[in-house]
Amino acid sequence: MKKQLIALMFALLPGFALAAGPSVPLDKANIDLSDKASLQDGARTFVNYCMGCHSTQYQRYERVATDLGIPEELMMENLVFSEGTLYGEHMTIGMRPEDSKVWFGAAPPDLTMVARVRGEDWLYSYMRGFYEDPSRPLGWNNTVFANVGMPNVLAELQGRQVKGCKPMPVKDGNSIVRDTLTGEPMLEEQCDVLTVVEDTGTQTEEEFDTTVRNLVAFLSYSADPIKETRHRIGVYVLLYLAILFVFAYLLKREFWRDVH
Ligand code: HEC
Repeated sequence: MKKQLIALMFALLPGFALAAGPSVPLDKANIDLSDKASLQDGARTFVNYCMGCHSTQYQRYERVATDLGIPEELMMENLVFSEGTLYGEHMTIGMRPEDSKVWFGAAPPDLTMVARVRGEDWLYSYMRGFYEDPSRPLGWNNTVFANVGMPNVLAELQGRQVKGCKPMPVKDGNSIVRDTLTGEPMLEEQCDVLTVVEDTGTQTEEEFDTTVRNLVAFLSYSADPIKETRHRIGVYVLLYLAILFVFAYLLKREFWRDVH
């Protein structure tokens, strides 16, 4: 019985993996956790645009200030809007889940760990995947998270994104098909693609991608604040083990010399 159960669990494994996989292709976030300026910009976007609804309650302001190299005064002025001091305060919010459930149909989850749960590419695609959809209660939908309850909070930066038809490069696998005479990429009209209505946002497409990339970098840092430190220490540990190996090997040779 036990064996059968275990066999069944293994048989189901690939199914679970598939079920968890994204249904749409995701764009690469390409974040750089060692880039402090990027993390600082992400923190600013997070506090200004997300903390109205989402907390990162397992993170402390003080830790963010230290890790990201933000001086206390700047941190208090620009990133901490709650009462009290920098020290010991967790990044909680005042909105109550009972209320938000009524307003949005779902309570905004805490985002401390979201980068580990969803992955960075998912977050990057999600934040860039909102589009106007009049059939939804708040007027927005999302390509990555269908019928999401969250409004497009970055719309003023990105502009109005709509789903429609536009000419897109023809692709053969991953490579773009080019005209054999002119070398220009071949275009074909494709529908169901997202386009931003020109001049409706305060940022250009590249600027907006950077804003979202930095935001995702900050969320990724939040989910694993000591990742950078761990990698740095890991290198020393491996070096130490390599050197130790040489001595251990020499010692072993010394000990076994008389035995052979
Ligand atoms: C006006 C309130 C509001 C604001 C502001 C807001 N969100 Fe949300 N968010 C929500 C709600 C509500 C949900 C739950 C949606 C659902 O489950 O349908 C959500 C869900 C999410 C999710 C999906 C979590 C998951 O794993 O299911 C992510 C990621 C997210 N928000 C990120 C952000 C980020 C980043 C910002 C700031 C740029 C932000 N949100 C700003 C209301 C908000």
